[in-house]
Amino acid sequence: MNVLLIGSGGREHALAWKLAQSERLGKLYAAPGNPGMARHAELVKLDATDHRAVIDFCRQRDIGLVVIGPEAPLVAGLADDLREADIPVFGPGKAAAQLEGSKGFTKDLCTRAGIPTAGYVRANDAEEALAKLEPFGLPVVIKADGLAAGKGVVIALTHAESEEAVRGADGPLVIEEFLEGEEASLFALTDGTTVVPFGSAQDHKRVGDGDTGPNTGGMGAYSPARVLTPELERAALRDIIEPTVRAMAEAGTPFVGVLYAGLMLTRQGPKLIEYNARFGDPECQVLMPRFEGDLLELMLACAEGRLADLPAPRFSARTALTVVLAAKGYPGKPDTGAPIQGIDAAEAAGALVFQAGTRLVGDELVAAGGRVLAVTAEGPTVRWAQRAAYTAVDRISFAGGFCRRDIGWREVAREDQSGSR
Ligand code: AMP
Ligand code: GLY
Repeated sequence: MNVLLIGSGGREHALAWKLAQSERLGKLYAAPGNPGMARHAELVKLDATDHRAVIDFCRQRDIGLVVIGPEAPLVAGLADDLREADIPVFGPGKAAAQLEGSKGFTKDLCTRAGIPTAGYVRANDAEEALAKLEPFGLPVVIKADGLAAGKGVVIALTHAESEEAVRGADGPLVIEEFLEGEEASLFALTDGTTVVPFGSAQDHKRVGDGDTGPNTGGMGAYSPARVLTPELERAALRDIIEPTVRAMAEAGTPFVGVLYAGLMLTRQGPKLIEYNARFGDPECQVLMPRFEGDLLELMLACAEGRLADLPAPRFSARTALTVVLAAKGYPGKPDTGAPIQGIDAAEAAGALVFQAGTRLVGDELVAAGGRVLAVTAEGPTVRWAQRAAYTAVDRISFAGGFCRRDIGWREVAREDQSGSR
């Protein structure tokens, strides 16, 4: 079967790497892809915002499944138009992608379905928000309602900060109670009805060591997130993810694809912080190496409503850890154009190097975006995987880049405490 994968980041490179291992795969196309993905896929210049062109391409190349990596084409309804044209697609339609695209939509659904989440109010503009801030106390969380690439959230510690955040917003807001606890991400695949857990991970959103500095799309991750114990995972599935999938189906807008729940593990149990309608980046780069099954078969079963017929997805017991190499300047304007060498040497050390913001100039690989590479390694413990990942990172020469040196620190500290190194 021929597959078209939409996207060009490290997440999509990891998906391409895994899809390429499927025995059922004929030809893999990636639009637009990146130089790393070219090892597994033919790169095609298709504009994903031109749905007609995507459909025409699928017909010409006999595409049996389209996998949509990033959120923007989901929110724009690419999956709806493909389904309308009878092309199987892994990824939710526009209405279901609102779980990511509108925080207010998700919060209202949580209220209706009794899903544990932070208390909140919605406000249409700054004036309404100011009037509604009072009962929340401090800290208080202020979020832009729409897609904001992780940058639309302010945790205000003072009244002055909360007022500033509200006044600085243009558009609808959600004001939320501040939740205390540790964060973990839980992934679930669904065909709209059946739900199967698909691994957990912990991201590192801040740019600097020790979780300092501004928020990014994610500077590193590891999987599994052991803080999300099997018991907590069951609770999150039962109380958060399953009722969400049910509510979407009942509304006539079933969610098909991967639902990524950002959870806060509070003293009262897991609470939903946010949903994403796609795999995380860089979480996908640690899930794929641990997943032991056939990704194509599983995604196709989601697209065709047959997930219940498949055995539950299995993951290796090992820990995978990924370190993101970013271009200097990220998460602000990145310095692009710096040469990258040593990927082969890093892979020879046993790591997987997934490419994101890279570009070939002649036959030289150079940085072309904020997050440039995700260097992933595995091991029996987090400490082990961490060492292996940084050993590989240190074989890469990328003078225009930087990375955090402490990915996995929470879990490493716990391992040190429990004596399992
Ligand atoms: P979001 O874009 O909703 O995932 O928020 C980004 C980050 O802000 C999350 O990963 C959390 O670290 C933090 N955050 C969001 N909402 C809350 C909340 N209600 N309480 C505490 N932290 C939050
Ligand atoms: N790493 C966070 C995200 O993909 O949203």
